[in-house]
Amino acid sequence: MGKLVCPAPAATRATGRKARDSIRFGGVLQKLRTQTIQRRPAGTPNVVLGIESSCDETGVALYSGTQGLLAHRLHSQVALHAEYGGVVPELASRDHIRRLAPLVKEVLADAGITPREVDGVAYTAGPGLVGALLTGAGFGRSLAWSWSVAAVGVHHMEGHLLAPMLEESPPEFPFVALLVSGGHTLLVKVAGVGRYQLLGQSLDDAAGEAFDKTAKLLGLGYPGGPAVAALAEHGDPHRFHFPRPMTDRPGLDFSFSGLKTYTLTTLQQEARRLSGEALEQLKADIARAFEEAVADTLTIKCRRALEQTGVRRLVLAGGVAANQRLRRRIDGMIQKLGGESFYPRPEFCTDNGAMIAYAGWQRLAMGERQGATFDVRPRWPLNQLQPPPGTVGH
Ligand code: KG4
Ligand code: ZN
Repeated sequence: MGKLVCPAPAATRATGRKARDSIRFGGVLQKLRTQTIQRRPAGTPNVVLGIESSCDETGVALYSGTQGLLAHRLHSQVALHAEYGGVVPELASRDHIRRLAPLVKEVLADAGITPREVDGVAYTAGPGLVGALLTGAGFGRSLAWSWSVAAVGVHHMEGHLLAPMLEESPPEFPFVALLVSGGHTLLVKVAGVGRYQLLGQSLDDAAGEAFDKTAKLLGLGYPGGPAVAALAEHGDPHRFHFPRPMTDRPGLDFSFSGLKTYTLTTLQQEARRLSGEALEQLKADIARAFEEAVADTLTIKCRRALEQTGVRRLVLAGGVAANQRLRRRIDGMIQKLGGESFYPRPEFCTDNGAMIAYAGWQRLAMGERQGATFDVRPRWPLNQLQPPPGTVGH
């Protein structure tokens, strides 16, 4: 976690000469900078540029406090990492560097605004891959410096937790959020911006990670979640019953690594004398049993969290929230409880720049500011987050 002094952007020193390699942001940043002529006096930031680069997606967006989301763009690195069966950190960093400046240009064009109309820059400061975080943080902080606007580092999970606020019918506070991604499985009570109570989390593999590893066992591609879900559609729900880990004891923590082992053992035992179509059917049946087990486990814990907190609003976010079987289970449970469920649209369930722009706008509007230095925090426990300084009543 390096504390770095924000340098003058490389591109501003490289004027008149073409960047020689992809490590430079090149002429685009230079062009963005030269558009800075005069800034309006400092006030409450309205339009905020958000930058997400914590893992394998480069997301850039513009959020306006008065007009809502103005534009957002995403470049996914899925194809880049697919042949390795997972994210290769160094490749991720290099690709972020290539994509950031063009994406910023594109969202400005989409929104029909110039850099002069941007009041602040928010970037993901953690948790995530250190190199990937540094590209977005370094670029975002440099851009804010060259535009003479405020900057703020945002917690990636706060972005996910606040993503439902981008929708037309956002949940009121407080709500319980289940955050299920490739790196995290968290149950959080969200009482307001920066007011998060961690209720439970995975003690080992994240739910998305379990999907990805199961996909690998079944010979499916990366990312595993959608592939397992598609295969499970052809599976027999009655052939296998997989365990629902940690549901037989009180508490809201999760554990998915045992389920992965159970999947492997079942596959090894059952596949021995099978080939061709029978083997394919076995894999589909296993995918179905696995998906049912994960969906049930998450639903049971969500119900417990709602009962324990007395809250009746549940938000599902993170890549695994795109899973349709999980959504059906959750909706059934919520209906019985007489509560409400909220799902950010699929593109805002997974990593994106819009959630960072929104969370950043919230914090900048409440007076939070990053100095001339920047931090990235590859590990950053959610419970270390504080409400923004201007928040009333905390
Ligand atoms: O939030 P996300 O895009 O990235 C982070 O990990 O931060 O989540 C990606 C995870 C991957 O593990 C992927 O396999 C999983 O979400 N995923 C799914 C589905 N779509 C994506 N898991 C189950 N069912 C899906 N339909
Ligand atoms: Zn994420």
